[in-house]
Amino acid sequence: MTILDGQQKAPLYEAIVNYSEGRKISFHTPGHKHGRGIPKIFQQYVGEKIFRLDLSVMQEIDSLHEPNSVIKEAQILAAKAYGAEYSFFLVNGTTGGNQAMILSTCNPGDKIIIPRNAHKSVISAVILAGAEPIYIMPKIDDQLNVILNLTPDQVREACQAHPDAKAVLITNPTYFGLTTDLEAIAEIVHRDDKILLVDEAHGPHYHFHPAFPKSAMSSGADMCVQSTHKHLSALSQGSMLHVQGFRVDILRLKTTLQMLQTTSPSYIILSSLDLTRRQMALEGETLWTRVIDMCEQTRKKINQISGLHCLTRDEIKSKSSLDLDITKLTISSKDINISGYDLAKILSSEYGIQVELSDFHNLLVFVSIGNTNKEMKYFSQALRKILIDYKDMIVNQKKRKSINFPQFMPKKVVNPRKALTGVTRKIPFKRSIGKICSEIVCPYPPGIPVLCPGEVVTQEIYSYLMSVLDSGARVNGQSDGRLQTIKVLDEVQMDDDQTALLL
Ligand SMILES: Cc1ncc(COP(=O)(O)O)c(C=O)c1O
Repeated sequence: MTILDGQQKAPLYEAIVNYSEGRKISFHTPGHKHGRGIPKIFQQYVGEKIFRLDLSVMQEIDSLHEPNSVIKEAQILAAKAYGAEYSFFLVNGTTGGNQAMILSTCNPGDKIIIPRNAHKSVISAVILAGAEPIYIMPKIDDQLNVILNLTPDQVREACQAHPDAKAVLITNPTYFGLTTDLEAIAEIVHRDDKILLVDEAHGPHYHFHPAFPKSAMSSGADMCVQSTHKHLSALSQGSMLHVQGFRVDILRLKTTLQMLQTTSPSYIILSSLDLTRRQMALEGETLWTRVIDMCEQTRKKINQISGLHCLTRDEIKSKSSLDLDITKLTISSKDINISGYDLAKILSSEYGIQVELSDFHNLLVFVSIGNTNKEMKYFSQALRKILIDYKDMIVNQKKRKSINFPQFMPKKVVNPRKALTGVTRKIPFKRSIGKICSEIVCPYPPGIPVLCPGEVVTQEIYSYLMSVLDSGARVNGQSDGRLQTIKVLDEVQMDDDQTALLL
């Protein structure tokens, strides 16, 4: 990758260092006053300097809400590096970014097409906006045991069925690194005069290496959000929102961001975004080439271990129009009698290895520029050794019960915001059949909500959730973790049309 104009600079980081070196007397926030008030135990462990960079909004270091100097410059450099027209630094992660995208696009009652397994920040944003979600159920590949990303055909069908939808939101990639043909989707969505929003939480690196799937901005999306902190080197909470084209109302977006973000953003997080952009623009391709090589070698080694399988790009490509981010290692133990949970526990307790996620059949491993060759070798050796050491347990352990993925889409009879903010009652779950759910009920795996606010509980849903609980899987989102009770909408609040839909 060629060095881009001006990308050697890190204007925001340079400004906060300069300010802190000036050693001004602080009669302003934050209250720790350059770290002097910080509890000693904290300072002794992390050192002094970091606290001197923890500043508040001042002329010399600009303001996130109304940037006109170094933050503005840093955001312009980010836009250039990421191929966007505008970039915005975020301090509440992609959660805040998803909320900003949706709230600046949808008015109450507007339809928005989203994947059923969208991140909860997307669902919460739809609720906050009072929008009408149109869910697309992702397909599941039973052989590879992964939830696939949405295909252009699925998006086309949804757009045809809902010509009045305002926007389409795609999660690209999925948590497991599966990407779709976003260029084709952009064409479909734009032909219908809708806005394409992309939750690119797990793809902030795509723009910096040609071997990665195409980024949302290069595919023609109108707006996307990336968790710069998840896969690049920004500090936790640091994300970016990128925009291009004429469909997004920039003024409304800026106002929405001001409504959602703190008025006291961390300059340390903001500077880490500035420095990460600089690092990627200058060295991104070199750094990621090393990671890609490490991941491919490790994938091969794991695939030589009998009983384990690490998902490959070719498998995904040969089965669908989808692609895979090869820096995500999805390792399946489906064919042998050890669960992903057990493997993760053993890796942690015996080998000091912490993976991103584990479920019944899988381990999910994220690899980034901070990982070393030595760590990767150690990891594959650890897996090989576990399968030898635990051979007897694997042979003798009771066969794991597996659960089928839900394939049904519940009937939505009330707008999710109304269902959430209406008068609700907590009732025994077994008595909820026929009632309208007022919370999210989402078993993990696979992380696809079975019920969202405003949807009707049926016998089929009840039985499915009971079998999920029985298998030992987690069910998240609802107020009662064991699902003995559930919050439902008080029918007194329903109008005649809604009651009719229930029948
Ligand atoms: C697909 C997706 N979108 C959004 C988020 C939220 O990102 P953040 O943690 O940066 O708020 C996550 C977090 O895991 C995610 O997986």
